Amino acid sequence: MEKVTISLGSRSYTIVISSGLCNDISFWPLISGDRVMIVTNETLSSMYLGKILTLMKKSKIKVDYVILPDGEKYKNIKTVDRIIGSLLQKSHGRDTILIAFGGGVIGDITGFAAAIYQRGIRFIQIPTSLLAQVDSSVGGKTGVNHILGKNMIGAFYQPTSVIVDTDFLCSLPAREFSSGLAEIIKYGIALDSSFFQWIEQNLDLLMVLEKHALVYCIRKCCELKASLVSNDEHDIGYRSLLNLGHTFGHAIEAFMGYGKWLHGEAISVGIVMAVRIAERFVQFKSEHSNRIINLLQRANLPIQGPTEMTANNYLSYMIRDKKTVSNQLRLVIPLSIGVSEIRDNIPNQLIIDAISEC
Ligand code: NAD
Ligand code: GLY
Repeated sequence: MEKVTISLGSRSYTIVISSGLCNDISFWPLISGDRVMIVTNETLSSMYLGKILTLMKKSKIKVDYVILPDGEKYKNIKTVDRIIGSLLQKSHGRDTILIAFGGGVIGDITGFAAAIYQRGIRFIQIPTSLLAQVDSSVGGKTGVNHILGKNMIGAFYQPTSVIVDTDFLCSLPAREFSSGLAEIIKYGIALDSSFFQWIEQNLDLLMVLEKHALVYCIRKCCELKASLVSNDEHDIGYRSLLNLGHTFGHAIEAFMGYGKWLHGEAISVGIVMAVRIAERFVQFKSEHSNRIINLLQRANLPIQGPTEMTANNYLSYMIRDKKTVSNQLRLVIPLSIGVSEIRDNIPNQLIIDAISEC
């Protein structure tokens, strides 16, 4: 079993990564008598909830659950209200532990509900999608979308632990797996050239769910994220490097209607746009651009945005990005593979050209 620690003083926690963790409740940080509310969705509950409830009841954990509809379009404040309603109806108090059992959507919504219910209760992340296992379950960004912008409502609120069982990936649809690969490739481009090379060499193994490759890759992503989060929990500095491609990608997700484009698909196009800017702005080498585009395509990810979106459509959403300061866009720009920077002085025309080119 692999372990990664997020070091945040009294709010530090461990990510445990292995296959089979969810068959044995003794790996979960729960004790007999704990009161738990599992938050999941219709898809995952039909596959896994029965087994989890049986295991919990055997361990004398008092468990309730709430089953939400599946999809990014339900990642909104109404769904949070539904979780809170369920907690209140069943008289849950501040000792209850929420368990987010699902992909990034369930993790983000549940974390936010945990942050605000009775001013904050504990929550555990059990991520079931690749994207959630390598990125969204770690680091405490919780929240929901608004019609006018992605992730516009939320809180920084850390889980008390993250349990990553790679066995769940066996039932993940291929398109969703590719969406997770976009975030993995992002780590390599933004932060670590040798990891990028490792992905180039091992992508085929990841795509057939080879266990050692998966565990190594998830651990590596969690370590990279742990180091940024531990030093910049509230995303005022280097943590923003994890947002490579996201300012463009969030615009695609919101404009197209949440859920039409998967998060990783939108980020893939956003990465290509950032690379196109970098070619002109910081002389990013075309051989590096080619390696990135080749890897995204091998991962079955798009490299061109939706044909119906104009540059102005992008900009109208991008200006509301959370990195924006005094109406000045701030974008993550790769300088070479493995090294990136946040820039706020990119000429508007350059951004428009990069968008139009994709
Ligand atoms: P998701 O939660 O919608 O899950 C993708 C789909 O796969 C869903 O239909 C889900 O039901 C299904 N699924 C999940 N696990 C499964 C499994 N084991 N077997 C079968 N089906 C399974 O999407 P996602 O890609 O996991 O997460 C995307 C969300 O994460 C976005 O809302 C994005 O904004 C957010 N995100 C958050 C952070 C963060 O730091 N908080 C980081 C990155 C992304
Ligand atoms: N996914 C970006 C972050 O957590 O900061």
